Amino acid sequence: MDRLTYQGIELDAETALALLEWQAEMGVDEAMGDVPADRFQVAAAPPPPLIAMTPPAAPALTLTADDDDLPGRVAQAEALAAQADTLDALAAAQERFDGIELKKGARNFCFADGNPAARVLILGEAPGDEEDRQGRPFVGRAGQLLDRMFDAIGLSRQSVDAERALYITNVLTWRPPGNRDPQPDEIAVSLPFVRRHIELAAPDVIVLMGNIACDAAIGRRGILRLRGTWTQAFGRPALPMAHPAYLLRNPPAKREAWADLLSLAARLDGQA
Ligand code: URA
Repeated sequence: MDRLTYQGIELDAETALALLEWQAEMGVDEAMGDVPADRFQVAAAPPPPLIAMTPPAAPALTLTADDDDLPGRVAQAEALAAQADTLDALAAAQERFDGIELKKGARNFCFADGNPAARVLILGEAPGDEEDRQGRPFVGRAGQLLDRMFDAIGLSRQSVDAERALYITNVLTWRPPGNRDPQPDEIAVSLPFVRRHIELAAPDVIVLMGNIACDAAIGRRGILRLRGTWTQAFGRPALPMAHPAYLLRNPPAKREAWADLLSLAARLDGQA
């Protein structure tokens, strides 16, 4: 396996990736070296010799209707989503849509769970292994924590009472292989369905669970900065929160998550 060096420590590729993901989750969005660079010295160095180069030939632009035509796939997703007048029709249309490669590798389509009449809609990232098995969002370890968190403020996906219910969906409905992050094109073709999904469910508030949901809904990442501050997404009040999978890895962050849940409860009570 490839080995990398970070601050003098040798890391394998898997550890390096985990470190990078953790930094991204913490909101690190600029790269600065640990050792200051002496730019004067760099400027004083002799310029590299000029080498005559033949410009590379321009790559042939061959967009095909299926793999590469992202605008075409997004337009098709938009048309299908717009035609759906009910959540069942939307689920059927999204499941049929072939403009997303992930569909080929996933076991089950994972549309939503809970009570569609709920005042609160939770938007997560994408199905993981257990969700892919069961065809329901948030049923693995992170989902179990999510259930306990919302139970603590009296909300549950099992509730038939819209006031106390939750409705749960994800940006992606098909599992990315190996639980990798969703790619921008996968988010782009899923967004028309997410938009229509939220329009049809018409929740009072949306909880944006983690960076991918924030990226898709408000075009921003850095969840540890965004969390706890109400914003607008899809024309509705929205609260970014740290993802329960992050809370499982960082239990001290549950303190802030609890503050966010209280803020949500107060908003639902009309006190905030
Ligand atoms: N993480 C998510 O964001 N969604 C799921 O459904 C499961 C884990």
